[in-house]
Amino acid sequence: MNDLRGVPSGSTSPLAREKHERALWHLVSFYGDPMAAFDATIAADPGWGLARVIKAVFILTLTEPNMLPQARELLAEADPLMGGAPVHEQGHFAAAQAALDGRWREACARWDALLLDHPRDLLALTAAHLFDFYRGDARNLRARVARVLPEWPSGDPLQPYVQGMHAFGLEECNLYSQAEAAGREALTRDPRGPWAIHAVAHVMEMQGRHEEGVRWLESGSAGWTDNGLAVHLWWHLALFRLETLDTSAALALFDARISGSASVVNLQWLDGAALLWRLNLLGVDVGSRWQALATDWADPVAHAGHYAFNDVHALLALLGSGDMARAQTLLAASSAQAKADNAGMAREVGVPLMQGLMAHARGDADQACAVLYPLRSLAHHFGGSHAQRDLIDQTLLAAAARSSHKAAGRALLNERRLAKPNTPLTEHWASRLGA
Ligand SMILES: [Fe+2]
Repeated sequence: MNDLRGVPSGSTSPLAREKHERALWHLVSFYGDPMAAFDATIAADPGWGLARVIKAVFILTLTEPNMLPQARELLAEADPLMGGAPVHEQGHFAAAQAALDGRWREACARWDALLLDHPRDLLALTAAHLFDFYRGDARNLRARVARVLPEWPSGDPLQPYVQGMHAFGLEECNLYSQAEAAGREALTRDPRGPWAIHAVAHVMEMQGRHEEGVRWLESGSAGWTDNGLAVHLWWHLALFRLETLDTSAALALFDARISGSASVVNLQWLDGAALLWRLNLLGVDVGSRWQALATDWADPVAHAGHYAFNDVHALLALLGSGDMARAQTLLAASSAQAKADNAGMAREVGVPLMQGLMAHARGDADQACAVLYPLRSLAHHFGGSHAQRDLIDQTLLAAAARSSHKAAGRALLNERRLAKPNTPLTEHWASRLGA
């Protein structure tokens, strides 16, 4: 029993398989209500273990500590159903269990093994792609998708989403022209594909094409306002605004599109924190926005240790709101509570990065430079994109301008000038560094 793409299926219910196909679209597109779609599949065939596994995997890809108990319960419910399932679906269960336990690298290896036999297994590909992102595995953001993409016929309605993932992987491997071409090509067949829109925006961000970036995102935004990636796309638009030092427009985007009820999970709050931090670095008073964000954030200390990247951004919210004592507690918890693969990410990147950011927040610019500069070459080990990790460089530039480490600031500025010549933001840092 195989599905439309030749992937073995443990359900004989045509309705459940139809619901599953719809759920795959929700999973890969971020449109609509994925949770309702997964529930519809479970309701259509309650004995189908994979219907619970896909819901658990979706939850795990959110890196949301609050929701881990729900994922654990789903896998516990699926466990007794897996005995009679196809071996392929048993592989999915094992991968999901590894992801739940924080063994993200093992989970990706298990999904990869499933893709070798069934290259059009979209659940395996989407899950592995997102965890490649969280693990900072840029090579596989591109290569894992490349290993399956030629096996997807262009007429498959979900193929443009796969191509959009490939475009993002190419961008994170600095293959900008290929990334832009792949993203634009995917959008000719599905103009609302958020991965493809996002990948092209990243290319423009990395190349300092900020005015084009504003037009790119604004012109398509009507199509993606109801998308799970929308907050992140608005964040990208705010970055383009910051590149021209239009801090008012960036703040307006924060207020209208990123803050408050627009953001409900870590992955969204962290974009808000990263934006406010960059505004602070430019000397903008963001008023009470930090306090509001820190209040929205579900208890970051209790949930620390799940993912270092999220912990670092929660720390920004505490530092921004002036709560140094709680920031120190969060730093300790992020280290002490880190488990499995995240323990290495916290030790290598998360904790020293927090120490550097705290040094900057307390005005110790020399210490901030000393800690942050060597982290630049390691920071990709805790995931995120080049654009997100640019927060480290922005902080370094601001710290260097106030420190005795002017040489480090000028070195960063030189890198920036080659990548993004002549942007107002680059010139701002040049001026601050006296370069
Ligand atoms: Fe992004």
